[in-house]
Amino acid sequence: MNLKQVSLVVICCFFIYKSADSRRVAVGQGSNGETLYTDHFIFALQWMRIAPQRFTIKGLWPRDSLNLEKQPEYCKNDTDIDLTWFGVKKDDNVEMWREEWLRHGTCSGLTNYQYFHLALELIHEVDVLNALRSNGYYPGSHYKPMDLINTVLNKMGVYPRIVCEHGNPMIKEIHFNFTNGYPSSSVSMLNMIPPYVMNCGQFENIYLPALVDKTKILVSISLFVLFCISLFVIVIR
Ligand SMILES: *[C@@H]1O[C@H](CO)[C@@H](O)[C@H](O)[C@H]1NC(C)=O
Ligand SMILES: *[C@@H]1O[C@H](CO)[C@@H](O)[C@H](O)[C@H]1NC(C)=O
Repeated sequence: MNLKQVSLVVICCFFIYKSADSRRVAVGQGSNGETLYTDHFIFALQWMRIAPQRFTIKGLWPRDSLNLEKQPEYCKNDTDIDLTWFGVKKDDNVEMWREEWLRHGTCSGLTNYQYFHLALELIHEVDVLNALRSNGYYPGSHYKPMDLINTVLNKMGVYPRIVCEHGNPMIKEIHFNFTNGYPSSSVSMLNMIPPYVMNCGQFENIYLPALVDKTKILVSISLFVLFCISLFVIVIR
């Protein structure tokens, strides 16, 4: 092979590599008529304080790594969705799914079936609570976000992002970064880019909330009332 042929092969390899690497797809038009793209998803889980205590899906959000300032939202005016899925009866959960589909799902490059199916598959893949538990991090205690992040990194091989409650050192959400695509076997995990912690300090002690134990509260209140009555009886006599 001469130099020209070698260069040609290199250029071809580069394009094959690039096209395999980035799956940047056009998904809609912005308000100024600009084309909106997506090349990865943020998968956001929220911590549920009610039983059974666990992380649930907050959202699967299409993102564009080349335009982090402006993310694709409301890509299709999908009036069909109300006719096919959501026309029956409005309740909070149904309203939430509808909004998630219209705001984020329409920009995913997936059908509504694929979009919700992917989110349901991913939540089984990303077993955060088990990862934390197996390293001795249980709900109901305080931990440093960076310790939790390093645990996830060791278990899953990627950096997540922890989001605390505003003005309250408590875990609210954990976010993961995925390549886009469908089904879940064709998407892979990516590192979140820093910051790895939002709304609280990386080395601050933050709370992973446990369930409010109603029995315990009831017992302490009863004991306190009994204590007051006894005190009253003793003092009066
Ligand atoms: C979406 O479609 C409905 C019905 O065709 C229309 O009334 C509405 O103005 C549209 N909204 C946008 C943002 O295009
Ligand atoms: C997700 O990973 C991609 C590829 O490394 C990166 O470009 C993008 O910024 C990441 N997204 C976030 C929100 O961290």
